[in-house]
Amino acid sequence: MRRKFAAGNWKMNGLEADLEELTQLCALHPDPAVDLMIAPPAPLISSAVVHVGVHPLAIGGQDCHPEISGAHTGDISAVMLKDAGASHVILGHSERRADHGEGDALVRAKTQAAHRAGLTAIVCVGETLAQRDSGETLEVIGAQLQGSLPDLINAAKTVLAYEPVWAIGTGKIPTLKEIGQVHSFMRNTLSTRFGEETGDRLRLLYGGSVKPSNAADIFAVADVDGALVGGASLKAEDFTGIISALEEAAE
Ligand code: PGA
Repeated sequence: MRRKFAAGNWKMNGLEADLEELTQLCALHPDPAVDLMIAPPAPLISSAVVHVGVHPLAIGGQDCHPEISGAHTGDISAVMLKDAGASHVILGHSERRADHGEGDALVRAKTQAAHRAGLTAIVCVGETLAQRDSGETLEVIGAQLQGSLPDLINAAKTVLAYEPVWAIGTGKIPTLKEIGQVHSFMRNTLSTRFGEETGDRLRLLYGGSVKPSNAADIFAVADVDGALVGGASLKAEDFTGIISALEEAAE
């Protein structure tokens, strides 16, 4: 049985004072029945770890460089994230792919770097609206999965997130049937490539405008093992609704 996972991505939002949200979140879920993670901006990681204390809420980075160290001004390595107390890292988010021109080969190298550092990689894939409208969704997802994941996958430390680009921050989501189609396609594709056991073990999150109001419906879709949440992860009172819906789905 795959353990459910609710992951929050704060993106470029949040200052030291906002870490109070983490304290509140931990208090709202003292003994969570699902795995939880928040990825704050990098400067807040160490402090976030202190706020969380012994609570099982994991802290993640939002990106890492494929190398361990070196002359790469402004970049952060997976080892540095780990050293700061992070246990996870989001990779290949569509905003990184679009804003920084990140392609699948780079995402794959970053995934390998994350694994070498002992981090769990949350690898994102997703189609644009133009790709969906022209019927290319599964082809795009298949190519991104193929290119962004290493052949020797560390299944225990890899999570996939299906995030349709047009659903991120827009309030729009695919139909539940469409989410189900993509997730089952991903499961089949991963099982074909990595074997049934590994394919069955990898957790598949849905991301893009997940809110407390739509979370229960999304979590009822087969092969949806949780969510990667942007906007609604910034406030403990919003994220708690999503976590509770996931805990109910896990029962
Ligand atoms: P959103 O973002 O929940 O604000 O739509 C999701 C994401 O980008 O991970």
